Amino acid sequence: MAVTTMSDHMVMRLDSIEDGSAAKVEVEGRTVALIRLGESVYAIGDTCSHEEVSLSEGFVDAGECTIECWRHGASFDLKTGAPTSLPAVKPVPTYEVRVVDGEIWVAVSAESESV
Ligand code: FES
Repeated sequence: MAVTTMSDHMVMRLDSIEDGSAAKVEVEGRTVALIRLGESVYAIGDTCSHEEVSLSEGFVDAGECTIECWRHGASFDLKTGAPTSLPAVKPVPTYEVRVVDGEIWVAVSAESESV
């Protein structure tokens, strides 16, 4: 039977990301884009759902709470991962993220087999 558990990882300090920009981190084999808006951080899958392009190299729109892929211009909602403009039509994953004492923590689910 597959069991899903959440594991929490401290990935970097909040002050390592400039306000209104993004950074890329690896968490348990997943590539995650962290986007900082003020004291808030969003965590989404870093790979654009249109092609293999790093979203953390895209453009953050703080007003719309989106990030735009630099390659063909699709935007993704930072809260839901849903595309808000073409050409992307599929969402990217989102991850639980919190800031504790200036540290950014990301939770990812890990599936393991148990009997
Ligand atoms: S690769 Fe991101 S929109 Fe095409």
